[in-house]
Amino acid sequence: MKNSRCRAADVTVLLACTTTFAFAYDGDWKRGRIYYRSVCTACHAAQAGGSIAPSDMTKAQWQGYLQADKHAKGKDSMKQYLSQAYRASIKAQNKAAEKFADVPEAELYEDLKAFVIRGAKDGDSPASCS
Ligand code: HEC
Repeated sequence: MKNSRCRAADVTVLLACTTTFAFAYDGDWKRGRIYYRSVCTACHAAQAGGSIAPSDMTKAQWQGYLQADKHAKGKDSMKQYLSQAYRASIKAQNKAAEKFADVPEAELYEDLKAFVIRGAKDGDSPASCS
């Protein structure tokens, strides 16, 4: 009885470690800021009626927003704008997309997240979009 409970605990620990290692990347908010300001803002300024600042939302609002992944009033996905395919499609006109062309999408997502959470209304350093 005692043994099997211990074994179950070991498995849990093992799973927790595997998960931690798989997602060990820490978002780089500076890279997220460059991407946000060069790629996200460039389009918002042109097509969304003006730029959208990280400080327009609280940390909790950003967290919910990122999780839901419903962009432009639910019309599309925000993550698609972080994809390598999207970066490749705009890299001729966009320096940041070109510079980060090979960054894995999951890393860029963590970078962007780190920037918007830090730059949120109630974040460590509320940030504008440009
Ligand atoms: C190709 C154009 C384009 C790109 C690139 C883009 N957006 Fe948007 N975004 C829009 C449009 C259009 C809207 C909708 C504006 C409206 O209808 O009010 C929008 C709205 C938003 C909103 C307001 C809430 C919502 O979803 O309606 C947020 C937040 C946002 N975008 C975040 C981002 C982030 C972060 C990125 C970069 C990873 C990004 N967007 C890239 C076009 C773009």
